[in-house]
Amino acid sequence: EKGGFEHFMLKEIYEQPEAILDTFRGRLKADEAIIKMAGVEDNMKRFLNADRIIVVACGTSWHAGLVSEYIFEDLARIPVEVEYASEFRYRNPVITDKDIVIAISQSGETADTLAAIKLAKSKGAFVFGVCNVVGSSIARETHTGAYTHAGPEIGVASTKAFTTQITVLTLMALRLARAKGTITSSEFRHHLIELELIPDKVREVLESNEYIKEIAASYKDSKNFLYLGRGYNFPVALEGALKLKEISYIHAEGYPAAEMKHGPIALIDEFMPVVVIATNKGHYDKIVSNIQEIKSRNGKIIAVVTKGDVDVRNIADHVIEVPETMEALTPMLTTIPLQLLSYHIAVMLGKNVDQPRNLAKAVTVE
Ligand code: M6R
Repeated sequence: EKGGFEHFMLKEIYEQPEAILDTFRGRLKADEAIIKMAGVEDNMKRFLNADRIIVVACGTSWHAGLVSEYIFEDLARIPVEVEYASEFRYRNPVITDKDIVIAISQSGETADTLAAIKLAKSKGAFVFGVCNVVGSSIARETHTGAYTHAGPEIGVASTKAFTTQITVLTLMALRLARAKGTITSSEFRHHLIELELIPDKVREVLESNEYIKEIAASYKDSKNFLYLGRGYNFPVALEGALKLKEISYIHAEGYPAAEMKHGPIALIDEFMPVVVIATNKGHYDKIVSNIQEIKSRNGKIIAVVTKGDVDVRNIADHVIEVPETMEALTPMLTTIPLQLLSYHIAVMLGKNVDQPRNLAKAVTVE
């Protein structure tokens, strides 16, 4: 059942190229320059008239929501707020019938997310679900939606659900951007072509597995980890830290790289490994100087960089390369090494990676 893999988590990490492809299937047609998503198409007017999008989710799904904030705002120019479902539901949130709520959930059974949906519906919002489990409570409770086609995710640590959620949200943002005219037809086409290349690029990243395992061996006894990223890769830093925490029980924190100087930099010494996502787009120069700041305080740097990178390689202790892609699509690649790093550390520490202590696959309690 684990298909020759030692754990479900590893199997699911390796399933990502196929899972992303399955999530595209029938929706993305790069050669014809079209994206087809019935849930978006049928409600296009609502999407075009929406004042804003509110994303509600928990855990890893919340991180996918944060990535989508950058994509929706950048491409479709729609303001986005990303909320922890548990906080949203216990506030008295301002919601109107001009809001679109996107609820993201792998299991479709997360109690807090379900309750947030019910609250949003009671205030007149239109609710769109991004779920993996077909026919789940959240899929049924939402007005419409789009499934991720990741296939069953058994490992408690969410991996392929995350990258396929980003896939669905990216397709939505692109479809809306095209409808709104916030990107040109050639930009649209370019995105689709690049998107289609992602599964193969994920496959290429997976080839770094042995090297990542070596890195894991060097740092498995660290007591703390810091994860840094900027822009589209800030949520990836949060996700990397969550993954490490939940399966290896090592304390880890994710931060936007520029926030380091507002506090966390005080933690840095030779015992602090810092995982930095430093792809060549976006704020590359800024992140290089963040890395220099860590180095000058003797921090150990594990960097995720774009293939062929020179500047970061000169400073970092370890570099893991990912293939070049558009900035908006980098999270689907940069996440993979962080999943593998957590996996190997947890295995080396003898932890139960598929069923970490105190955790359940679907959190159906509030
Ligand atoms: O099924 P959901 O996507 O609604 O679950 C949300 C979180 O409970 C989940 O992502 C959790 O954080 C994972 N164990 C993270 O790997």
